[in-house]
Amino acid sequence: MTRIPKSEFARRRKALMDQMEPNSIAILPAAPVHLRNRDVEHVYRQDSDFQYLSGFPEPEAVVALIPGREHGEYVLFCRERDPERELWDGLRAGQDGAIKEYGADDAFPIGDIDDILPGLIEGRSRVYYAIGSNPEFDHQLMEWINTIRSKARLGAQPPSEFVALDHLLHDMRLYKSANEVKVMRAAAEISARAHIRAMQASRSGLFEYHLEAELDYEFRKGGAKMPAYGSIVAAGRNACILHYRENDAPLRDGDVVLIDAGCEIDCYASDITRTFPVSGRFSAEQKAIYQIVLDANLEAFKHIAPGKHWNEAHEATVRVITAGLVRLGLLEGEVDELIAAEAYKPFYMHRAGHWLGMDVHDVGDYKVGGEWRVLEPGMCMTVEPGIYIAVDNEQVAKKWRGIGIRIEDDVVVTRDGCEILTGGVPKEIAEIEALMAASREQVA
Ligand code: GLY
Ligand code: MN
Ligand code: MN
Repeated sequence: MTRIPKSEFARRRKALMDQMEPNSIAILPAAPVHLRNRDVEHVYRQDSDFQYLSGFPEPEAVVALIPGREHGEYVLFCRERDPERELWDGLRAGQDGAIKEYGADDAFPIGDIDDILPGLIEGRSRVYYAIGSNPEFDHQLMEWINTIRSKARLGAQPPSEFVALDHLLHDMRLYKSANEVKVMRAAAEISARAHIRAMQASRSGLFEYHLEAELDYEFRKGGAKMPAYGSIVAAGRNACILHYRENDAPLRDGDVVLIDAGCEIDCYASDITRTFPVSGRFSAEQKAIYQIVLDANLEAFKHIAPGKHWNEAHEATVRVITAGLVRLGLLEGEVDELIAAEAYKPFYMHRAGHWLGMDVHDVGDYKVGGEWRVLEPGMCMTVEPGIYIAVDNEQVAKKWRGIGIRIEDDVVVTRDGCEILTGGVPKEIAEIEALMAASREQVA
């Protein structure tokens, strides 16, 4: 399976430490284990920032980066080996593994952190830490700082400044390396196969969860541990609920199904939406709306390149969608005026995309100094225009009501434009109908 190589984690730690002020320490906790019910745990997912710097997959761990420390700059606290616990719950790296497998310079049992970490903080003037994202750990950190403060009369020097670590780290995470793009391409290819499989399986009489099962099968077969977010399989009017999650309604001839789903590989997300007819053939109204959304999706790519700003792609989709709605008589008036009045919003109420990476709605600022961010190579984002016509929208003729269409792709900015990572799954009307017709012939 495509994965981030170990050497890249070391490069990231060095890049972060190079940006830290002298005499500092950075501290990051692993994600906590979350209980699902009673003693059943949710599937463990490492915290993205922690993963970005360590690649260490276990809970109950803390990374400390201490530039210039004589006995090693990268200290990892983690669980000790424990044959009894490992028999029940699986293997642990332990301190030897932390050093040999994960490149730590020094490793200590997590149970000893109260005794050791205050000593590592003491004498450092700045602590780089993401305050507020893990309240329990915030509290622990304050206790360690107070331990140092209580010894001030003995000459201990508590830190005088806290610096937002997340801001530095999230700017680094916004620029994807060649290795990261490789992993994201792999995730996108598996997700593309999953969407194709769902299209091929679609039949009236099935339920939305049958298609979700097809997605899950292809995700797991590709090596993904889990979807990057809860899959949306929304048939008929459910497609107009943006974050529909029930996935339990019947598929009916005459309806379209909107599937928004992507797998996660090595903690990198993919995020694809396709909308297709349950029966394999779009109706005239569905086709008309679909084509506008597709035109908006295709237009957006022309506005994603180095030097263009973040919002240009969104603005392009707004223009195509507004003009299209006017053409069909769903909006009336001058396109420019309708755009200025945001008349498209009852039909297109979300933005054309978001940063994509270790988190599906990835980190990174969209504006810098009050201005939309200018795109640079390595930035990854989604392109996902949509039109949703509410069932109770009495402003439009009945035949349009309840149609919801979104088409979403993942792209990375390249030196001279952008690369579409999710091109493996069809989106032209004729291509989708041909693919679905072929799957029906095979069965017949
Ligand atoms: N799947 C969530 C989104 O498209 O933003
Ligand atoms: Mn998205
Ligand atoms: Mn999506």
